[in-house]
Amino acid sequence: MREPPKASKALMDLLNESVARELQVSIQYMWQHVLWSGVKGFAVKDAFKSIAIAEMKHAEAIAERINYYRAIPTTKPTPIIVGDTLEEMVKQDKKDEAGAIDLYNKVIEVAKKDGDEVTYKLFQQILSDEQDHYDTFAMLLEDI
Ligand SMILES: [Fe+2]
Ligand SMILES: [Fe+2]
Repeated sequence: MREPPKASKALMDLLNESVARELQVSIQYMWQHVLWSGVKGFAVKDAFKSIAIAEMKHAEAIAERINYYRAIPTTKPTPIIVGDTLEEMVKQDKKDEAGAIDLYNKVIEVAKKDGDEVTYKLFQQILSDEQDHYDTFAMLLEDI
């Protein structure tokens, strides 16, 4: 049997923080999708839903990576902030996407330093999704 693969503590902490944030936004966007109604909400609720699903897939892919290192992925999301108005919601989401972009740039840097090619590639893909999400929320915010 092969030795269990090892990751640096820095990378494992970042992966767990990433899962927690993915869980947060997937619930946050799903609830925004459910809660919002009204004319403006009609245009954005589909975006909330499809991005919520994308975030759930990110959470799963990152959890698989943690599991590969024989560690247990966290089930605790970082604090979920749904917001009361459509503007509050989209402002918060844009902020969360900016936070994800910063965090995943850090993950990519550490994965590269650790020589973890798979995590490096995974987060390049996820980072590109987050950049799209950021653009979507930024665009929606201009129209609210
Ligand atoms: Fe994500
Ligand atoms: Fe995102």
